[in-house]
Amino acid sequence: MSITITTLKESKITKQVVIRTKNTMYVLGIFADRFPVHLYYGKKSRSADTGYHPFERAFSPYYPECGWDYMPNTVESEYPYFGMGDFRASAIRVRDLSTGSDVTEFTFRKMKKYKGRVAIQAPIYGELPYAEADEDTETLEMILDDTVTGCELHLFYTVFPESDVIARHMTLINKGKNTVSLEKCMSLCLDIKRDNLDLISTYGGHGRERMVDRHTVSYGVHRITSRRGASSHMENPCIILCDPKASEERGEAYGFNFVYSGDFLDELEIDQTGKTRVLVGLGDETFSWRLEAGESFTSPEAVMTYAPNGIGEVSRNFHRFTRKHILPPEPFERRPVVLNSWEAFYFNIDGKLMEDFSAGAAEVGMDLPVMDDGWFGARRHDRAGLGDWVATPELFPDGLAAFVERVKAKGDKFGIWIEPEMVNPDSDLYRAHPEWALSAPGRVPLESRNQLVLDMGNPAVVDYLSDILGKTFNGIPFDYFKWDMNRHLTGVYSNILPPERQKEASFRHMCGVYELFRRLRAMFPNAMIENCSGGGGRYDLGMMKYSTQIWTSDNTEPVDRTYIQYGSTLGYPVTTMSCHVANHDSSIEDPRKLNYGFRVAINGPLGYELNILAASETAKATMSEQIKEYRAYEHLILRGDFYRLLSPFECGRYSYYFVSEDSREILLSYLQNFDDAKKTVYKLKISRALPGVTYRDTISGKTYTGEELRRGIEVESDEKGLYAVMWHLVAEA
Ligand code: GLA
Repeated sequence: MSITITTLKESKITKQVVIRTKNTMYVLGIFADRFPVHLYYGKKSRSADTGYHPFERAFSPYYPECGWDYMPNTVESEYPYFGMGDFRASAIRVRDLSTGSDVTEFTFRKMKKYKGRVAIQAPIYGELPYAEADEDTETLEMILDDTVTGCELHLFYTVFPESDVIARHMTLINKGKNTVSLEKCMSLCLDIKRDNLDLISTYGGHGRERMVDRHTVSYGVHRITSRRGASSHMENPCIILCDPKASEERGEAYGFNFVYSGDFLDELEIDQTGKTRVLVGLGDETFSWRLEAGESFTSPEAVMTYAPNGIGEVSRNFHRFTRKHILPPEPFERRPVVLNSWEAFYFNIDGKLMEDFSAGAAEVGMDLPVMDDGWFGARRHDRAGLGDWVATPELFPDGLAAFVERVKAKGDKFGIWIEPEMVNPDSDLYRAHPEWALSAPGRVPLESRNQLVLDMGNPAVVDYLSDILGKTFNGIPFDYFKWDMNRHLTGVYSNILPPERQKEASFRHMCGVYELFRRLRAMFPNAMIENCSGGGGRYDLGMMKYSTQIWTSDNTEPVDRTYIQYGSTLGYPVTTMSCHVANHDSSIEDPRKLNYGFRVAINGPLGYELNILAASETAKATMSEQIKEYRAYEHLILRGDFYRLLSPFECGRYSYYFVSEDSREILLSYLQNFDDAKKTVYKLKISRALPGVTYRDTISGKTYTGEELRRGIEVESDEKGLYAVMWHLVAEA
């Protein structure tokens, strides 16, 4: 039982809800049968102070009948609404369009709990992505009313006890007579009873995704938001708040994320009372939703976790949760080693070349050659053809199906690149349907990589795309799709919407993108999707619902990758982190670089991206050995628990380990990016090693006791950078 609801007598808090996960506890109460207040989120304990302590402050409006016992402006709120005394950032703002008023007051009516969860219904096209329930999942549903507008608000708390995660979303139903507009819609609010917390977030750009930023949040409002129509390279919805002294394995930390790939908002506010409010939801600058009488809107899902023992624990909670409840089931017995054509040939591909390339892949033990961009329409460069999803006849003289059949006869699997949300103005699709591209009235649309964005909120566009992809790929046994998205949304205006609904266009677009993902998955239930957006521009839980892995970055330079990969592991499991050994700076013919590229790449599912046909026999032999070595560790990489030890952001080194659930097998990695004449010594402490157990390193043959590993293996830096050491530690019987 994770959720307990109790009615209290002779107390200002008339009802109390306690939510328990494996290691955490969340407590909320209903003040005077009217207002949901937050009481506690932290370590699971009987003695935790979950009492209600009103905070009295002048200049705070109050209800005469409650007096200073309940002040909206100072209380810890479960879901603050705009306009009735809480001056801090609000979770919801609803405007009654008959009066123009945006004041609401949502008061408690009732609540219930049940096993499992409800699906999240999108207003168009079916579902939004959300976490799948299992036998332990329970949900608390609370219903609140705003009597003036007649709006009914449902707050959902879905509990995943094993992962220490609580997922939250809301539904607003307009049960009144007048049309209302939902102008701010947050999925989660948490009022933390302290300030002086560190915020860890990731920022970046194309080729430098998820750079780690950590600073103490000061008084006022802090917003991390995307207005790009994608979660983006520049921002990421995952944030961690922690004690300023918190390290990987010490100190309390909270994690938050959003199961959505479009515009989002993480909003923090520290107020006069020294509390930190956290809100996670839809980006409020590019969203509103009109609800006629009887209509409803459901938000995407936000997730939160609490960890008493450090930032690493927040990451592991999210890793476990994502693997178990978000990601699609593993499509194959083992994750295929991909060989991608992009950095090998860019647009200069044809069927014959791809056949040779695929045969080359099979020869060295790679499982899945991927034909990247350039196989369709007039797409010989990035200026034309996008949108025309028909294989170019000159490249495949006897057709795509016959080509794929030949390729698969030589190897095992085969994959192909698509970018369905986009169109080049120089394409048959755009010439036929210019009105399908997002563009503001009277304005010349901005291009980015010579392309425009299709209005996926228009069902005709989604139908067209699923139809053409269905026809072109009909009966062809693809095992993999790389789904790309190479620009952000501008001129967001949908030609099928009336003026008063234009602020819905971005959200509707995202719903259409998810719908097309579902249709492609339904057409190819046995294939996996690798998501991509100019590298890792949509590295988020929404995409992970449909994609087994994500192309982490277009930057394949191993030193840069240590930073990008470190940052990606903060919120996301390494199983999603597609890592290629690439031919950057002709590195594959330099044994030191080829080795370093590989050591960096086996932080996640391994792949290659290079011209295998031009590789020397020596390089090919090395790659064959690398794949064999990766296979020997794959179970730990894809299923083990992940611990970060050294951060490249702090010391130019990345060290981490994977450990099996029973702690009897450990894969430890040390990656040194730069030269170090001082030969600095680092201690790599394996806190999960079992005391009283002896571990043998299968690489060096050395043995270590569990105690020694817990005290730390010493590693001396090499004078030269690009230095990598691994230990594969296996417990002796
Ligand atoms: C994006 C991707 C690359 C490649 C190109 C093709 O940049 O991130 O991996 O697929 O598009 O145009």
